[in-house]
Amino acid sequence: MTNAKLRVGVIGCGFFAENHLAAWSYLPDVTLAAVCDLDQAKAQSAASRYGAKSVFSSAEALLDSGEVDFVDIATTMRSHVELVGLAASRRIPTIVQKPLAPSHAECLALVETCETAGIPFMVHENTRFLRPVRKVREVIASGAIGKVTWGRVAFRTGHNIYGKQPYLANEDHFAILDLGVHMLDVARYLFGEATRLYCQSQSIKPGIRGEDLATVMLNHVGGMTSVVECSYASPIDPDPFPELTLQIEGTRGSLRLDSGYRLSVHSDGKTQAHDVSPTLYPWSVIPWHGTQESVVLIQQHWLDCLRKGVPAETSGADSRRTYDLVFGAYESARSGRAVDLQSSAAPSL
Ligand SMILES: NC(=O)c1ccc[n+]([C@@H]2O[C@H](COP(=O)([O-])OP(=O)(O)OC[C@H]3O[C@@H](n4cnc5c(N)ncnc54)[C@H](O)[C@@H]3O)[C@@H](O)[C@H]2O)c1
Repeated sequence: MTNAKLRVGVIGCGFFAENHLAAWSYLPDVTLAAVCDLDQAKAQSAASRYGAKSVFSSAEALLDSGEVDFVDIATTMRSHVELVGLAASRRIPTIVQKPLAPSHAECLALVETCETAGIPFMVHENTRFLRPVRKVREVIASGAIGKVTWGRVAFRTGHNIYGKQPYLANEDHFAILDLGVHMLDVARYLFGEATRLYCQSQSIKPGIRGEDLATVMLNHVGGMTSVVECSYASPIDPDPFPELTLQIEGTRGSLRLDSGYRLSVHSDGKTQAHDVSPTLYPWSVIPWHGTQESVVLIQQHWLDCLRKGVPAETSGADSRRTYDLVFGAYESARSGRAVDLQSSAAPSL
């Protein structure tokens, strides 16, 4: 890998790509070389606001231009298999947004395509890069709360997510695939791999095609239990959106992450409060600043990994396990039974 700045091409310049574009422009070790959107006006607007040299309306044209060292695909999931396939066939290192694809089989095939091509590959799974989540993992690793016995990862809100992302109302699989994927990845990141899960899902708000509320109970290697809660149908006050909350118990103590980025750690009978508020960049927009920082951190992580030639945390191999949980949860909700998760016998949908 050269010492020169790496050149990124961003494919898809919609709602969430704004964060990718802002982060690539902010990071010093990378140049936003090209942008692409089927909608030329969106690509043009992104290029002029974030300083990209070249503008494309065809992903193939961008990939064949020779102007990029890697691509960052920020389109919605139905285009991922095709776009990742195009990049892999040209052996161009690739980042792709979550969810990988609508079905388990397509997610696995997408990962395999990249493995067969031998390209560096990362799922843009930014939630584990949130400052409070990184801090909580540090606290667990320090031993302050002892051996972890129980945990809850919760994202509950009544926020109208369909305002900015109208396509979410029309997906057969919604809360577990779109939101649960983040929370299940956080559960893996904090508590280790899961061996068994049980899920109940519900459809609450009218006009929403898929489930908008899901509760997953997991058994992890080593015996701890976690509960992962995902809801876009919770009329609660105060509404923590867009923050997640955590409660974790161990043999020496416990911790709680409450909304407002307040982390409290109870260890050996003493309680300490920590402020885990995210960094504010000149371009941060409250209340999205936590997500925006996580996007900067995951994109910096990708650059570091690419330079060192090592896999990213959310590589294909790692992400396969997250999607085993996602589709295992659908299988459990459908059958009403717990699902065993062995890597060789992953649930399929
Ligand atoms: N990590 C997070 O917190 C988070 C939050 C919101 C959205 N997302 C993810 O970001 C992705 C994009 O979501 P969004 O809300 O920005 O969608 P969007 O519809 O606003 O934007 C997608 C853009 O991709 C373009 N596009 C589609 N197919 C294309 C193709 N073949 N070539 C070039 N451009 C193409 C569309 O024209 C559109 O402008 C989704 O996968 C979503 O799940 C992640």
